[in-house]
Parts: sequence; structure tokens; C-alpha cells
Amino acid sequence: MNRSLVGAVLGSLLFSAALFSQTKPSLPAKVQALPTTAKDIERGRVLYVANCIRCHNKDPNVKGSIGPEMVDSPLSVMYSKVMTGKYPDPLPAGFVPKRKSRAMQAIPKLKADIPVIWAYVQSVKKKK
Ligand code: HEC
Repeated sequence: MNRSLVGAVLGSLLFSAALFSQTKPSLPAKVQALPTTAKDIERGRVLYVANCIRCHNKDPNVKGSIGPEMVDSPLSVMYSKVMTGKYPDPLPAGFVPKRKSRAMQAIPKLKADIPVIWAYVQSVKKKK
């Protein structure tokens, strides 16, 4: 094999590895700095109302028509549900899914907004 051919083969291997690694959603680096300003939380509320209460309750502490309460979901679980419709595999330690159904569909256009939606949900979480 000549050098350029080796380069091309290596390149395509690396490319498919990169593509493959994107099939499993992982938390964006940005999540380190969670949104907490009143403006972020209001934005999260508006997005929650617009995208989630068709199935979940207007109050994220309470069961909705088909979607469960979600105040106990870690960010990684919300991220996985919104990006893929599925619970993460493996589940975070100690987290128990509220439902065994598989009715939620992915809403990947919300990718960048998941941290503000999560921050809103946590901001209204009732202490037990
Ligand atoms: C089409 C209805 C539907 C919509 C719209 C929807 N969900 Fe869901 N969601 C569900 C259902 C049903 C479940 C329970 C598991 C399943 O069936 O997928 C669920 C589960 C979840 C869970 C896991 C809760 C737990 O603790 O087990 C989270 C988090 C979640 N949804 C977040 C969201 C967010 C955030 C939005 C809006 C951006 C949203 N969902 C929009 C139906 C929906």
C-alpha cells in the first residue's frame, strides 16, 4: 500500500469511529456550568410548557396524562429521554425509572436547551 492509500484508510476508520461515538448521546461539556439565572429558568419554563405538557403535567412534581413526574430525574436521564426517547443504559446509580412504557419520542431539536429545562424543573421541585 502506498502512503496516500494508508492515509485514506486510516482517515475513514477515524471518521467512522467519530460517527459511531456520536450515536450514543453524552452530556455536552457546557453542562458543567448549569444555568441558574432567573432568565434561564424562565426560558426553561416556557420550553417545558411548549414541549412537554402535552404528556407531562404542567407541574413537573405531578403525574401527567401519560408522562410521569420528572423532578427526580438527573440531568443525564432528561438528556437521554429528550435526545433518544429512551432511558440511559446503564441507568445512573440509584435512579429508578417512573414508568416501564416506551411512549416518549425524542425531541432532539431541544439539545442545547435541555440544561435550562432541567434547571426549571429543579427550581420547582417540592422538598419531601
Ligand atoms: C409524547 C408524550 C411525551 C412528551 C411530548 C414528552 N414526554 Fe417525557 N415521558 C413520556 C412518557 C410516556 C414517559 C415515561 C417513559 C416512556 O414511556 O418513555 C416519559 C418520561 C420522561 C422522563 C423520565 C422520568 C422518570 O423519572 O422516569 C423525563 C426526564 C422526561 N420524560 C422529560 C421530558 C421533557 C423534558 C419533555 C419536553 C421537552 C418531555 N419529556 C416530553 C412522554 C412524553
